[in-house]
Amino acid sequence: MTRKLFVTTALPYANAAFHIGHIMEYIQADIWVRFQRMQRDGDAGREVHFVGADDTHGTPIMIAAEKEGITPQQFVANIAAGRAQYLDGFHIAFDNWYSTDSPENVDLSQSLYRKLRDTGLIVTKTVDRFFDPVKGMFLADRNIKGECPKCGAKNQYGDNCEVCGAAYQPTDLVNPFSVFTNATPVMKPSEQYFFKLSDPRCFEFLKDWLNTPGRLQPEMVNKVSEWLGEAGEKLADWDISRDAPYFGIPIPDAPGKFFYVWMDAPVGYLASLKNYCDKQGIDFEAFLNDPGTEQIHFIGKDIVSFHLLFWPAMLKFADHPVIDKLKVNVHGFLTVNNEKMSKSRGTGISPLRYLDLGMNPEWLRYYIAFKLNSKVEDLDFNGEDFVARVNSDLIGKYVNIASRCAGFIAKRFDGKLAPALSEGAQTWINRALTQDVNGVVIERQDSIARHFENREFGKALREIMEIADITNQYVDENKPWILAKDAEKTAELHDVCTTALILFRQLTILLSPVLPGVAKNVAAFLNDAEFTWADTQVFGDAVSHSMLGRTIGAYSHLMTRMDAKMIEALFDAPQAAAMATAADAANDAAPAAPALVASTPASAIEELAPEIKIDDFLKVDLRIAKIVNCELVDGSDKLLRLTLDAGEGRLRNVFSGIRSAYKPEELVGKLTVLVANLAPRKMKFGVSEGMVMAASAADEKANPGIYILNPWPGAEPGMRIR
Ligand code: MSP
Ligand code: ZN
Repeated sequence: MTRKLFVTTALPYANAAFHIGHIMEYIQADIWVRFQRMQRDGDAGREVHFVGADDTHGTPIMIAAEKEGITPQQFVANIAAGRAQYLDGFHIAFDNWYSTDSPENVDLSQSLYRKLRDTGLIVTKTVDRFFDPVKGMFLADRNIKGECPKCGAKNQYGDNCEVCGAAYQPTDLVNPFSVFTNATPVMKPSEQYFFKLSDPRCFEFLKDWLNTPGRLQPEMVNKVSEWLGEAGEKLADWDISRDAPYFGIPIPDAPGKFFYVWMDAPVGYLASLKNYCDKQGIDFEAFLNDPGTEQIHFIGKDIVSFHLLFWPAMLKFADHPVIDKLKVNVHGFLTVNNEKMSKSRGTGISPLRYLDLGMNPEWLRYYIAFKLNSKVEDLDFNGEDFVARVNSDLIGKYVNIASRCAGFIAKRFDGKLAPALSEGAQTWINRALTQDVNGVVIERQDSIARHFENREFGKALREIMEIADITNQYVDENKPWILAKDAEKTAELHDVCTTALILFRQLTILLSPVLPGVAKNVAAFLNDAEFTWADTQVFGDAVSHSMLGRTIGAYSHLMTRMDAKMIEALFDAPQAAAMATAADAANDAAPAAPALVASTPASAIEELAPEIKIDDFLKVDLRIAKIVNCELVDGSDKLLRLTLDAGEGRLRNVFSGIRSAYKPEELVGKLTVLVANLAPRKMKFGVSEGMVMAASAADEKANPGIYILNPWPGAEPGMRIR
C-alpha cells in the first residue's frame, strides 16, 4: 500500500515573529518530511503533504492590533508576510502556509461543532466571569492583575504569581484591576458553551485511542493516562466559548459568542490542507478517507493536552475520518546554554540575526538533528559544542573527502571517473556501507533509514559519520596526493579517487534530508538528477555502477568551516553585534566582552525629561524606514534631503540637519528610525513629512557629533518601534 502522509507542525501564534524554538520544530519536521519524500512505495514516489498556518484568533492579537490602530486581519497579514524569510532561510519546505482566519476554517470548525452538538456533547452553563466595565469586555485570566493572595506581590496575573509560584483563580487576587483600563473588574454572569469531556464516552474512547500501538510515544501515553484518571474522573468539561468582542469564529446559533482560539486552531491543520488540495486539484475528502493516509502532528511538550485530549475527542465524536489516522510526535524544548529562552534576558538566538551574520543554515539543521531523538527531551544549544560538532563532522569528515579527491579527477582524468573498480576498492566500499551484527550483514542505508523514520536523527547522523570515518581512513591509507606524484600509479590514483567519490555521493544522499542545499550542489557537481533513497543502493542493481565512467563537473567549495567568532557575534552585545558581519567576524579580533559596569558619569548629560506614562509614549509613532535616496540641499549647509520608504506604499520627503555628520552616499540603502506621525512641516526647501532620529550630546560645542539610529539586522521598513 502506498503511504500517504499529511504532516503538520504546531500553528504558531500570529502575534510575533518566529523564534529559534519554532525553527527547531520546523527543522525536525522538515527533515522527516524530506526523508519521506525520498522514499518510494513500489514504483511510485510517496505522497507527502506538509502544511502549516498562522494561529490567528484570540484576545492578545485583537488587543495588539487595536494598539497599532489596525484591524486584526491586517495585523495577522503583516505577521504572515514575514514568515517566508525564515522558512526559506532555513530550507523549511512547507507545501502550503495558510491561516486559521480563513473561509475554510470557518466552514470546517463550524461543521465540526454542529456534529458535536448533535452528539449531545455541547452543553451550556452560566458562569460568573470578570468583566471590565470601562472597556465593556469579559476578561481572561491574563487580562487581570492584582496582588498575589499568597505572598502579596503586586502586579501579578490572574492565574499565577511569578514571584512565589502560587496558582489561583483571578477571583482570589487582592485589589484586582483590568490591564486594559485599570478599572476594577466586576463579576457578570455569562452563558458559556462547553465541550463535555467529562462524558463517559470520552474516557472510554480516549483510553483505547491513546493505547493504540504506534500512535504516541510511550512516555506520552503514560502522562496522558494520568490526566484521565482511573475512570475518567479527572476529565473536566472544556469551555470553548468567548464573548464578543473577540477576534474569532462565531459559534453557530449563538449570537455574540465565538469559539475559544484552541477550538478552531487544530481545525486549522485541515483548513490549510483543504486550501492546498483545492489549489492542487487534489480531492480533499478522498485523501482523508484513504486507508493509506496518515496524519502526523509535530508539536512541543507544552501543548500536549490540546492535542491528546481535546483534539482526538473532537474528531472522534464529530465522526471525522482522520481520527484513526492520527499520530502525534512530541518534542522537548530547545534551551540556549542550558537556559530557558527569554527575550528579556537575551539568551535566545534570533533566527534572522543568524542568517544576517551569514551563518550557514545547514550548520544549524545538522546540529539540531544531531541532538534530536524520538523522546520528549529538551535539547540544549551550546555555542562551543555547535562549532565543534559542525567543524568536526561536516567539514573535517564529510566535505574533506571531496576536497581531497575531486581535484585529481578534474586535473588528471578530464573530469571522468574510472570505468571499473579494483577488488580492493570494492572491499572498502563494502566495509564502509555494511555492518556485521552478530554474523548478519546489515546494509547501513537500511538502518539509517529506520533511524530517520523513527525520528532518531542523532543515531542516523552518528551512523552516517561512521561511514565518513571509514572513507577517510581509506583515503589516508591510500594517499592520493602521494600517488599523484608517481606516473606509474595513475590507474591507482583513478581507482582511489573514484572510490572516495562514490562513498562521498553515498554520504550526501544519506545526509540530504538534513542538508538539502548541499545535496543539491553535490548532485549538480556529480551530474546526478535529484537524489532518492534508492540511489543509496551502490552495488547489486542497475543503479550500482552509475558513477563508473561518469564525467563529473568541477568541484567547488561546498561548505566553509565555522569561525568561533561568529558565535560571539551571535550572542554579542547589541551595539557591537549590529556592525558585525560574517566577514568581520571571521577577520577581526574578538570583540572585548562587555563590561557590566556603568560608564563614568559624563560631566553634562542632559537632564531627564519628566516621567511619562506608556500611553504618552505610544502617541509617538516610530517606524523603521529605508533611506532610498539622499541629496544635498541647495542653499543649506545644515540639511540633507532624505527620501524614505516606511513600508506605506509611498515615499516620504524628510529634511534632516545631519549634513555635518554624513555624506549622502553613506546613508543611501540604510535603515533608520522615522517619527512617522509628526505633523508635516513646510520649510523653505519644501515640505518635511516626518523626522529621522539622531543622538547628540548635551554640549554640542564640546562634543559636536550627531549619530543617526540604525536598527539591528532583521528590522524591516514599516515596523513600529515600541
Ligand atoms: N498556537 C499554538 C499552537 C496551536 S496548534 C493547533 C502555540 N503556538 S506557539 O507559537 O506558542 O508555539 C508553536 C510551537 O512552537 C509549539 O509546538 C511549541 O511547543 C513550540 N515551541 C515554543 N518554544 C519552543 C522551544 N523553546 N523549543 C522548541 N519548541 C518550542 O502553541
Ligand atoms: Zn505570590
